[in-house]
Amino acid sequence: MAMKQESQQEPITDHIKKEHRKTDEEIAELEKRVRGKRDDSLDPVFVPMKKELLGHMAAEEKVLYPPLEKEVREKIADAIKEHKEIRKHLEDLTTGGEMSESEWTRHLKMMEEEIAHHVQEEEKEILSVADRIFDREKLIKLGEEFEKVEKQYE
Ligand SMILES: [Fe+2]
Ligand SMILES: [Fe+2]
Repeated sequence: MAMKQESQQEPITDHIKKEHRKTDEEIAELEKRVRGKRDDSLDPVFVPMKKELLGHMAAEEKVLYPPLEKEVREKIADAIKEHKEIRKHLEDLTTGGEMSESEWTRHLKMMEEEIAHHVQEEEKEILSVADRIFDREKLIKLGEEFEKVEKQYE
């Protein structure tokens, strides 16, 4: 069976943080590649990044947020709103072929700022709570469920 290393054994919080760092790298790579208006040279980074982000957000909403609903209700409501904004940015960037170079770059920058803000809050206000209230076994179990949801987006 071809399985990702460490899969099945990773606490959900570590898994999510790793993906946050990966997104940072992908956005930095996109910024390096933006030279003209959106073209094929961006697709090898943008297309998989979009899928990963959609899977990541869906998995957070299905697996991470519900068991924390009582502890951090407002934070979760904010996080879900922010996910909506990020999805909207992803859509705008996908159909951005008609946009001028500066417009596409401006949208990318806006998404980057939205994500940076969201990730910071999520790690500080939500993941830290998960790490505090769940034991390692539970965190690993949630990590497995998280990956299952993500796989539906691959
Ligand atoms: Fe996240
Ligand atoms: Fe999130």
